[in-house]
Amino acid sequence: MMEKHKKLEKNSILLLIFTVIAVSIGGIIEIVPLFRLETTIEPIKGVRPYTPLELKGFNIYLREGCYTCHSQQIRPLRDEVERYGHYSLAAESMYDHPFQWGSKRTGPDLARLGGKYSDEWHVEHLIKPQNVVPESIMPSYKHLGNRVLNFDDMGKHLKALKITGVPYTEEMIKNASKDGLAQLRPETELAENLRNRYGEKVNIRNFDGDENIPTELDALISYLQVLGSMADLKNYDPQIVEEVKK
Ligand code: HEC
Repeated sequence: MMEKHKKLEKNSILLLIFTVIAVSIGGIIEIVPLFRLETTIEPIKGVRPYTPLELKGFNIYLREGCYTCHSQQIRPLRDEVERYGHYSLAAESMYDHPFQWGSKRTGPDLARLGGKYSDEWHVEHLIKPQNVVPESIMPSYKHLGNRVLNFDDMGKHLKALKITGVPYTEEMIKNASKDGLAQLRPETELAENLRNRYGEKVNIRNFDGDENIPTELDALISYLQVLGSMADLKNYDPQIVEEVKK
């Protein structure tokens, strides 16, 4: 055995070939299982696809580059969990395309923002951050309040996301434009349909304080208010993940 090894050590080409073989075997064993998503994402109750209005908000968040200053990933470290709340789970961002984990924190992490502030606070903060946080360096997003929402292409957005694996149903795709507006009109039949499709917990209300015109401010706030609030973390116990799978 030692004699054979000597041969390897003296011949650099042979050593290189065997090294590559050894590293490849290790690499395959480590990496290939990750291609099967089911094995990497622990399922958790409550996480659902975004409603059309929230998805609009998500798209505005990308367009405006909020991710250049905000991350959406709470790491399982004590200081982060104390400041922001329960650490993020992979399942919580499985329907984000592209995911918004980010790496830049000029501002705070937003992964558990939903429900932390009132809608009025968000309106005030987005129009002029310094009105609520005097030392803020966040820019104003006042223009969002003047941009009227248009849901015409929402069906196509949902359809495209379905191809990537987001479980939108045919019903959801067909009614995407109606559902978009319905989320701003509580107490209507359309709102009831939206609730039936996306669940009881959907926030249905006017978000920007202006009842008449649906604006991009409505969409962005509806998205911010749902961040990190879908997953049922009270009953989350990594041990029982196996049961949720069933
Ligand atoms: C230039 C960097 C920058 C950009 C771009 C930016 N922010 Fe901020 N953001 C900050 C800073 C700094 C703070 C902390 C001070 C404050 O609350 O205003 C903050 C705070 C916040 C908070 C309050 C978070 C909390 O938990 O208190 C929210 C919500 C928020 N930003 C949303 C957004 C959204 C939505 C966008 C995109 C439309 C955005 N930000 C773009 C820098 C930025």
